[in-house]
Amino acid sequence: MTTLITNIKELIQVRETNHTLVSGQDMKVLPTIKNAFLLIDHDTIVDYGKMSDSVGLKADNIIDANNKLVLPTWCDSHTHIVYAGNREQEFVDRINGLSYEDIANRGGGILNSAEKLQNTSEDDLYEQSAERLQSVINLGTGAIEIKSGYGLTVAAELKMLRIIKRLKKNFPIKVKGTLLAAHAVPKDFKNNKEAFVDLVINELIPEVSKLQLANYIDVFCEKGYFDLKDTERILECASQFGLVPKIHVNQFNAFGGVALGVKFGALSVDHLEELNNEDIEALKNSRTIPVALPSCSYFLSIPYTPARRLIDAGLPLALATDYNPGSTPSGNMNFVISTACIKMKMTPEEAINAATINGAYAMGISNMYGSITKGKKANVIITKPVPSYNYLPYAFGDNHIDSVIINGQVQ
Ligand code: NIG
Ligand code: FE
Repeated sequence: MTTLITNIKELIQVRETNHTLVSGQDMKVLPTIKNAFLLIDHDTIVDYGKMSDSVGLKADNIIDANNKLVLPTWCDSHTHIVYAGNREQEFVDRINGLSYEDIANRGGGILNSAEKLQNTSEDDLYEQSAERLQSVINLGTGAIEIKSGYGLTVAAELKMLRIIKRLKKNFPIKVKGTLLAAHAVPKDFKNNKEAFVDLVINELIPEVSKLQLANYIDVFCEKGYFDLKDTERILECASQFGLVPKIHVNQFNAFGGVALGVKFGALSVDHLEELNNEDIEALKNSRTIPVALPSCSYFLSIPYTPARRLIDAGLPLALATDYNPGSTPSGNMNFVISTACIKMKMTPEEAINAATINGAYAMGISNMYGSITKGKKANVIITKPVPSYNYLPYAFGDNHIDSVIINGQVQ
């Protein structure tokens, strides 16, 4: 089946050659075609150009996009959408003066979500997660990474990863699964963190690898969670099983996690609300992409990742949601882009590059996703009538999406 989208006011993020990453100054450039057409065959982009060059083109299905923009769907490279229930009480507790750290120290936070998840059946957990996945697709997300990490036992982690596999099978969008092996020290290991890391290394990673349930490995490398030594032991073990790191670093403290990630060939280092010059130096000449999560900064009132320092140092940057029950109960990439422009001083061009092509790179899929390129998957957003792409981050909080096409199918 072929679909022809006609009269597109502006076709955004058109890459003639198959770019897989945009860095530094190049992030300011967002290539577009005004008054354009886009031709889709089955699930693939096969042609595009100016309307004047579309004469004679035929298709089974014609969509008139008069006054509307067309852009690649968002590539959300960091989420935790498999979770049970919510943590709205902790939200209220924080309003009343407790910090994220205070809540974690009294047994709430990740441990709270782990307990809920362990007590929720696999089918119930699947249904809750599927509902979240459908809602982010409606918001324009066409590729997503999903982490485990609320299991904290081998059995519960496997349960989470099986759910991610089921989501991958049942939904049309691209899903990448990450084993977040060490997210918090479980209650039973309170005074014996080493033993938990041993369990991760001796049982969890080998089992997940045997069952082929994850693409990537993650660790929450942070004070009060897992230190550099723990992280190194886990990444060392994971590398033997071919699991590439995508790690949580520098959310509250900067103490060398970025350089450690780079040393182990991390695909991405995520959060970076705290960042020092050594971190920036470590990222230069590496293939590791920094990922910023502005909705998390917004929700927790913590600093925003210094996007300008990263981009002005010539580095690439990706934007993702961090959708999770504790620090970011939102999977809205449109809000992420607005917040990046408003709070992190990214230009709309930089933010859209960061949320499409660079987000795809941070999932290892940018050869097939993240731009309007012949041969790439036909995953596109058609906006409502808007004046320009600047309007998308500018008019924040409104839904500018008319429809979402995944693998050539209108959702
Ligand atoms: O990326 N920081 C670690 N993990 C999540 C939050 C986990 C939680 O609070 O449930 C994050 O922000
Ligand atoms: Fe996260």
